[in-house]
Amino acid sequence: MTDLGLYRHLDQMAPWNDRLQVLEVIGVSDEAPDVKTFTFRSDNQTWFRYQPGQFVTLELPTADGPLMRTYTLSSSPSRPFSIAVTVKAQAGSIGTRWMFDNLVPGVHVKAYGPAGDFSLHSHPAAKYLFISAGSGVTPMMSMLRWLNDCAPWTDVGFVNCARRPEEIIFRKELELLGSRMPGLSLGFMIEERSSREGWFGHMGRIDAIRLPLLAPDFRERAIFCCGPDPFMRAVRGMLEASGFDMENYHQESFAAPAVEEIPAPFASPPEGGATVPVEAATPVRFSLSDVDAECVAGQTVLQTARASGVRIPAACEFGLCGTCKVKKIAGEVEMSHNGGILDHEIEDGFILACCSKPISALEIEA
Ligand code: FES
Repeated sequence: MTDLGLYRHLDQMAPWNDRLQVLEVIGVSDEAPDVKTFTFRSDNQTWFRYQPGQFVTLELPTADGPLMRTYTLSSSPSRPFSIAVTVKAQAGSIGTRWMFDNLVPGVHVKAYGPAGDFSLHSHPAAKYLFISAGSGVTPMMSMLRWLNDCAPWTDVGFVNCARRPEEIIFRKELELLGSRMPGLSLGFMIEERSSREGWFGHMGRIDAIRLPLLAPDFRERAIFCCGPDPFMRAVRGMLEASGFDMENYHQESFAAPAVEEIPAPFASPPEGGATVPVEAATPVRFSLSDVDAECVAGQTVLQTARASGVRIPAACEFGLCGTCKVKKIAGEVEMSHNGGILDHEIEDGFILACCSKPISALEIEA
């Protein structure tokens, strides 16, 4: 029976803007082979405020300890009482496999976020082209669902590539949206036929010949691309070669930039010379843990916390996901992030521990 006590008006609930939220699974559904959607509500009377295309970080309590995993939301903020992630269990994936085996309605998990600027709200345009492969369709679905609810006349080309017909995620819903949104044109492309479903559409891989067939006016559109790295590299290269204005190209990427080597506390001694300190260590106090630590020159606040046994949750570790956001009570840092923190949060004294290095003695709320 429906629990009517659950129902609240939006103005009776608080918006989702905390870093940490406890979510309750309210639905699990199969989308395609090895692909499931997990739907969550807040256990704290919170409505979900985010931009379509953003992601969250889930803390999965596996037997080997908490595992932080970042997933793009497939739901739309136009339906703010729940959120959903749609995930594919890749061979060897630990986090996603744990979700498949353990997340059933009623189970609670911690979530951090939302974060990310892969959203049409950050890059508005007159016409869009969404190009995706595999589970890279999830941010596109979030944006398309939002457009269907809030701006259904928008001109959108939607190209999705999959290995086989039955692996096209959200195909039925996309076809339904195609019949309702006058400006939506769908293009599916598969690599192999299958005995499970007939196929009369495009076959092969997206390339400079097929793209104009799927979206003849692609040069006039803002293009959003998401999929495996080789797929995104191929799309990017094809667009650059075609003379596309890359200012209008946006791709989702969770890949970390090259990792900067952390200097050792002492430089190697010159030939025959004595060991010399590189730079004095900077004191860092973690107030909630009541721990006083020393940050070696070049180390981040997150590395210092780990070295001294203080737990700060982290996922991407390159300033994108926002999971390691902590409050700086005193001192100054040099922070080089990739969009995981907003200007007003910085003004309020927050930093991302994974990409902040102290430039004076620090006190951190952790
Ligand atoms: S761990 Fe992702 S921003 Fe720091």
